[in-house]
Amino acid sequence: MVRKTLIAGNWKMNGLLEDGIALAKGVAGEVKKAARKDCEFLICPPFTLLTSAKKAIKGSKTMLGAQDCHFAASGAHTGDVSPVMLKDLGCQYVIVGHSERRTNHFETNELIAKKAEAAINAGLKVIICIGETEAERDAGKTIDVCTKQIMGSVPEISTAQNTVIAYEPVWAIGTGRTPTTAEVEEVHAAIRKVLAKKQGRANANKMRILYGGSMKPGNAKELLALPDVDGGLIGGASLKVADFMAIAAASK
Ligand code: PGA
Repeated sequence: MVRKTLIAGNWKMNGLLEDGIALAKGVAGEVKKAARKDCEFLICPPFTLLTSAKKAIKGSKTMLGAQDCHFAASGAHTGDVSPVMLKDLGCQYVIVGHSERRTNHFETNELIAKKAEAAINAGLKVIICIGETEAERDAGKTIDVCTKQIMGSVPEISTAQNTVIAYEPVWAIGTGRTPTTAEVEEVHAAIRKVLAKKQGRANANKMRILYGGSMKPGNAKELLALPDVDGGLIGGASLKVADFMAIAAASK
């Protein structure tokens, strides 16, 4: 298998010091026990927990990521965190363009591409999120929307080594609803085609495309078995060690 499964937890704005550290330690312990060679594990806690989470996962193969970054390396950007800072702190990954950022912070494809490029240049890997709203799906525009988002938010310097795509239908995030497996595979295969056009077939075949949106232990097996699904970006279920690990176990 050219594409190693990636099981990534997006903690969103959850976790205070005590429970955040316990969660990171819990995941790290289980990752060690699982000793998987075919699967990578990543946790993306909020900024406030990154330093303590890093300590908590030390010695396990769990990787650390942030949930967003600015595109500048430093400067007058009150409240922002730069990719260079994240790298300095020990992060390997950063999520960019999550639908909650696109919606709540009016992030455009152009801005997301800039962030992704800066993060890659800082030595981070990026998870670039895309996905349609419910209205767009109902209007039959899913593939169109995802194509535009890929074309606009994946920077030219993206390769299979530094970039992961996460397909997250907005209407499936945190709702308990998911597309059918056929619908998921249709979109993932379409995304890979667009990536092939944009970055070449060899690169596209190696680039991981995660599914995200209400992934749970109960639906993970069928989703992760799809030919173009290379892992999951998991929100709610990543806040419980057992659920997160059960999803990973379903990828065997
Ligand atoms: P969810 O979130 O698993 O809670 O639906 C996924 C995400 O938004 O990354």
